[in-house]
This record gives sequence, C-alpha cells and structure tokens, in this order.
Amino acid sequence: MPGPWPLDPRGAQAESISFLYWVLFACAVVVLAIVVGALTYSGIKFRDRPGRVAQQTHGSNTLELIWTVVPTLMVISFTALSWERLNFINDVNTNAAMTIKVEGQQWSWTFTYPDQSMFKLKDGTVLQAGEQIDIPVGQKIKLELTAKDVIHSFWVPNLGGKKDAVPGHTTSLWIEANQPGTYKGQCTEFCGDGHADMLITVVAHPQNEYATWAMTAVTDADRLRDPATAAGRTAFLTGACAGCHTVKGTTAAGKVGPELTHIASKPNIAGVLSPVNQENLTKWVHNAPSFKPGTLMPKFDGVLPDQTIDQIVQWLLTLK
Ligand code: CUA
Repeated sequence: MPGPWPLDPRGAQAESISFLYWVLFACAVVVLAIVVGALTYSGIKFRDRPGRVAQQTHGSNTLELIWTVVPTLMVISFTALSWERLNFINDVNTNAAMTIKVEGQQWSWTFTYPDQSMFKLKDGTVLQAGEQIDIPVGQKIKLELTAKDVIHSFWVPNLGGKKDAVPGHTTSLWIEANQPGTYKGQCTEFCGDGHADMLITVVAHPQNEYATWAMTAVTDADRLRDPATAAGRTAFLTGACAGCHTVKGTTAAGKVGPELTHIASKPNIAGVLSPVNQENLTKWVHNAPSFKPGTLMPKFDGVLPDQTIDQIVQWLLTLK
C-alpha cells in the first residue's frame, strides 16, 4: 500500500497535481540558487576592505529589464500551466464512469453508490458504505460531496485533490486509480473531537473483478437488511451504537469499539461472555461494565427501552 503522500501519485488527477508541484518546485530552486548565489558572491567580492571606496552606480536598464521581464514571464507561464491543469482537474464530468455520493458527518463518511442495477438492494435502495469506497481501476469516478453538520474535507492524496464537503451545498471531485490497491485518505478540515478519526479508504479493484465485488457487497448488505430485523438495524445505525462500532456494509463506521461485522460468528463477547447468543448479548448491552469493569461500552439498561435492546440484539445475531 502506498503511503498517503501527494507526491506518490497513483492516478491521472494526482499525477497532474504532482507534475505541477514539481515544475513550480524546480523553478523555485533555480531562482533560490541564483538569488542566494549572487548575494553570496557580492558579499564576498565587494566586502568592506581598508582603503576601498565603493563605486556608486545609478540605474541600469539592462539589469532592471532582466529582473522585471524574467519574473513576469515566469509568473505568466505558471498561470498558463496551472490554468491548463486546473481545467483537467476540475472537469468532473467528461468520461466519468459513475457517480458516488459522499456525505460527511461528525465523524464519519457515508458513500452511496449510483442507482444502477449492479448496486440495487432487495428493498429497492442502493448500496451504501461508511469509511470505505470500492472503485474499478482505470475509471474516472465522480464524487458528489455534501455534509450533514459542519464543513468536512475529502482527500485521498494518492488519487487526487482535496475538496470541501459543505452542509447545504453539493461540491464535486473526481478520483481515478491507475493500479489496484488500497489508498488511504483523511478528513482535512478540522471538524471537532473526532476529526482525526474521520478516515477514508479507497480500494481499487481490477476492472474484471469489480462486478464480483459489487455482487458480494450487495448480498452482504441484503442480509443486513432483512425486514424481520429492520427495527434493530435502524436503532443500531441511528443511535449511539454506530458512533463507536463499525459494521461493514452499513454506514456504521465508529472506531472506538470493536468491529461487529461478524459478531454472531465470534466465540465470545469482549472476551468475557461466551457463547455469542441472545441471552449473553442482551446481558452485555444492558450492563457491559458489570461483566468487564473499565470497558468503554456504557450501560444501556434504563437508557434504551428493553424492547429496543431486544431488537438490536436480534439484528446483531444476523451478523454472521
Ligand atoms: Cu470531518 Cu474533519
């Protein structure tokens, strides 16, 4: 996995940005060398020595022309080059293979796949995910960003530029990976306590494997949306649980507590209650600290109605 480093581009847009960076950097180094070189040379050559009287000069057309014309030409070229690159970077629509909607909220992301049969779930909704986006390699993916609460910012440095997600507005960005892999990103606008944990993972699949990935993801998501356990699912995703726990295939992407994607297949709960069954899960959710003093999992007895806890447990038991 490449480090999340803007100068290690793995896609067309990121390449464009780092090209621009290196051109500007190289020119800056040349200018720096000339200025510091001339300064050092003059400082040594014309330093004060006994008996020496400095020669006074007033105006030099040649010198003044050089230091006016050269920087002007440089700035104009940088502007033209940036303009040309920005047109490419900002063009989210030309040849975009699909659009994924991105919503930031304190402190996680929700990714909604396009309304295509490939991403359709049995209940008529489309596939959603928290934290991770899966894309095909070599295709331009348009992202439409917005935010629920405060301004967040989406940035996956290996794949492209940075874009703010603003409440009440839609902004757009595109990313493209030119090789399969996992690319890390991060919310880059300070958005409160959990800002540092607002991570993004982009997984790029070879094009011929993408449909298979989508099929598995849709099957998993369908399993999590069984109408019989829908109430528990909703309670889990909209309540406190999702703030701490991740369940892959849903928008729950909390990082504080353990991941629960396959909790029903685990040998025990938090290492203290075994097996994972309705009775033990119910006890745990009611009063986790009584089984494991010091656990971050709070007591929900009296906080959530017993019926809600039962529904949540029913849903957790489907997470095999
Ligand atoms: Cu969201 Cu920082």
